[in-house]
Amino acid sequence: MAADRPSTGPLAERARAKVNLYLHVTGRRADGYHELDSLVVFADVADRLTFALADDISVHASGPFAAMLPPAGDNLVRRAADGLRAITGETRGAAIGIDKQLPVASGIGGGSADAAAALRGLMRLWQVAPAPEALAELALALGADVPVCLGGRPVFLTGVGETLVPAPPLPRCGLVLANPGVAVSTPEVFRRRDGGYSRPMPFDAAPPDPATLAAWLRDRRNDLAPPAQHLEPVIAETIDALAALPGVLLARMSGSGATCFALFADEPTAADAARSLRHLHTGWWVETGVIESAS
Ligand code: C5P
Repeated sequence: MAADRPSTGPLAERARAKVNLYLHVTGRRADGYHELDSLVVFADVADRLTFALADDISVHASGPFAAMLPPAGDNLVRRAADGLRAITGETRGAAIGIDKQLPVASGIGGGSADAAAALRGLMRLWQVAPAPEALAELALALGADVPVCLGGRPVFLTGVGETLVPAPPLPRCGLVLANPGVAVSTPEVFRRRDGGYSRPMPFDAAPPDPATLAAWLRDRRNDLAPPAQHLEPVIAETIDALAALPGVLLARMSGSGATCFALFADEPTAADAARSLRHLHTGWWVETGVIESAS
């Protein structure tokens, strides 16, 4: 469950890391946004947002990556709250807490996941239910990754991020996420991309096991990895380090980077691999978990 409201605690929502298992850039629209084809899943690694009724909207961040967030005024969570008030006519405020566990500007949708969690949490706090189309429009206006994070389920994403088709059941895989400590600008990565476009390659069948999923993913790629590695060569080093871990099935960058991921047959293998990676690269953010099949 993404949401919980223990009798003793505040209303809370998890903002889980999104992982692009593959990401093809399939075209470019007249407005400059890129058309994508991507299999997006969610990991059980998350920021935690809390919500309490208040007169005004306030956002307070804590946790290891709080200092990297933009000032509260132009925070995506704040804009999500303002936007939800605008489409629902809500006049109350909310004190929103973000326990920032995910690295910022890192290809796992931290800001988008927070904005989506804010929408979910505030709808519960204020007991409001905007029209689905208005909510979808607000989510997309906040960021191309916000709609997928709002749903929180494995999907094939197309368009610029607004078209979401449920993925077939995916096998439970062990997962390691690694970020070498560099923040990458998404617009800059898209700008640096050159070459042609890839074709969309969604699949209908359910991969029976992690090895099959990894084999299918190997036929696909992350088209944003070359420009991101050009900007930050340490990303290539991160992928190489993940690819060298014992038991690894696939190592790749997520989104526009710099966070990379590796898939393993099971969680214990992933946990062992994460331990050796932390030992080798003490400064890197390394997390282990599983891909969750539902929110
Ligand atoms: O929508 P979001 O703010 O996450 O996107 C950041 C930037 O990434 C956009 O301004 C755009 O330059 C680029 N982008 C893109 N095509 C997408 C998503 C993002 O070109 N589908």
